[in-house]
Amino acid sequence: MSILNTFQQQFHPMLPRPNHDERSRQEFAKSLRGYIQSQILPGLMPLYRKIMPDTSKRPTRAEVRAAMEKQPYFQFYASLNRVAQELMWHSVIDTIERDLPRMEAEAERLEGTIGSLKLNPEMEVPRYVTEVDIHCMPGGYAAEFDRKGIAAGALYDRGVYLYSMGYGGPFNDDKGRSVCNYIKRNFRGFEPKRILDMGCTMGFSTLPYKELFPAAEVWGIDVAAPLVRYAHLRAAGLGVEIHFAQMNAEKTDFPDEHFDLVVSHILLHETSGKALPRVMKECFRLLRSGGYMIHADLPPFDRMDPLNQFILDNETYYNNEPFWSAMRDMDLVALAKEAGFDPESVRFDTAPMAIREFSKATGYDQGKTEQIAKRDFKAGEFAPGGWEVLIARKP
Ligand SMILES: C[S@@+](CC[C@H](N)C(=O)[O-])C[C@H]1O[C@@H](n2cnc3c(N)ncnc32)[C@H](O)[C@@H]1O
Repeated sequence: MSILNTFQQQFHPMLPRPNHDERSRQEFAKSLRGYIQSQILPGLMPLYRKIMPDTSKRPTRAEVRAAMEKQPYFQFYASLNRVAQELMWHSVIDTIERDLPRMEAEAERLEGTIGSLKLNPEMEVPRYVTEVDIHCMPGGYAAEFDRKGIAAGALYDRGVYLYSMGYGGPFNDDKGRSVCNYIKRNFRGFEPKRILDMGCTMGFSTLPYKELFPAAEVWGIDVAAPLVRYAHLRAAGLGVEIHFAQMNAEKTDFPDEHFDLVVSHILLHETSGKALPRVMKECFRLLRSGGYMIHADLPPFDRMDPLNQFILDNETYYNNEPFWSAMRDMDLVALAKEAGFDPESVRFDTAPMAIREFSKATGYDQGKTEQIAKRDFKAGEFAPGGWEVLIARKP
């Protein structure tokens, strides 16, 4: 197995700094994921054709699962994937434990230097966030492990870089950057003055909006205090003015019609069947007339073939993502219309991955991103075709 040579993560003052041995362990965890995705996952396709030879009828996801789960090759793939996921998080924990005093000193230096942070200790964090170690991340998003409450943010920051195998770009901001490019190309003349990013985690995707619209007031909200705390410090370390607040996207503290643009990036699949319609209604309330709501994620299941549905569905089965599949079965277009958005405006579209465009233009990764994008298997690793965006405009 060779080391996966993709983007290296850009260091900033808050990012835990691995030493030599920790770094090589993290690179191993990243490359193991790359190996599984590029060498083992594609083997499921010939297996699927062999065990489901009747091409006259489209099987359901449940039928694919019933047949696949009996296959030793699939069992091997699924077990290895789970082991790689756990290994990935654990490879970062040692670094955080060793580097925490330095990170705490940086936190004290950066706090309040640029942008703002508003925490709400009274806020009840929803059960769908507190009750699960989401995607096997030890402690989940809301865990307060350490004196300054920054460890969970640090774990996610480095962990997600390894999870996405570098394909999120040096700042892990591909989702935000891709949606920004989409807005720039498709909404000519649209100059939002206030922008809200819901479920911002550490603000990876939030920062590109400030770059695209420097005059705008940009907000990132998340229910988890350790994440917005870290997001504030990370943005300050990078010198970008963003306002972060601990708020629930189902019911925020902002006044009606406060924003011109409300976005989210892979938030919806981490909420719940009850919360998601409330988030849509809240977006509607928060937008001024003519404002846009854009939610970026992977495509709904009805836009995917049964095998790719099954591959993604394994996130719910084996990667602690309880709502991952249920959300992809929901009719989000209908929900947006019910929330009050202009029915003519509500649609899905694809925002091409900014990183792919960058790789193509510069040859940075010698065409690797392109190669992965072209092969049969693409679901569940990152989004080679682009991010699926649900777009709606308030009348
Ligand atoms: C997968 S992460 C989002 C990643 C991030 N947007 C990015 O682009 O890197 C999902 C985030 O949504 C947050 N979240 C879940 N439910 C929420 C809610 N109701 N309101 C606000 N944030 C929520 C979680 O705490 C978590 O940080």
